[in-house]
Amino acid sequence: MSSGSIETGLSSEALNIHRALASLQEELEAIDYYHQRVDVAEDEALKAVLAHNRDDEMEHAAMLLEWLRRALPGFDLQLKTFLFTSESIPALAGGSKAPAANNGTGLGLGPLK
Ligand SMILES: [Fe+2]
Repeated sequence: MSSGSIETGLSSEALNIHRALASLQEELEAIDYYHQRVDVAEDEALKAVLAHNRDDEMEHAAMLLEWLRRALPGFDLQLKTFLFTSESIPALAGGSKAPAANNGTGLGLGPLK
């Protein structure tokens, strides 16, 4: 497991968030690996297995994202803004109500434009 850099002295809450973020990163990488292999596999049975495995990684990623949404209010706000809508994504960014100041739950970054 790739853990990336970790600050020392983190609270258990911050460590758990780090673990979830690192795991989400790994699940997303796995989706990408499987998807690339599905794209080039010539054996149809292997292609089906790889596609199944890719989709399982999507489930894992979604479970982690939901855990993060519950743990980080900033994620909750952004996901409610951007997911499950057919609106223009850049237009939604303009209307994001993301907190500009650090409230202890994020990096204090405003919406990226
Ligand atoms: Fe997985």
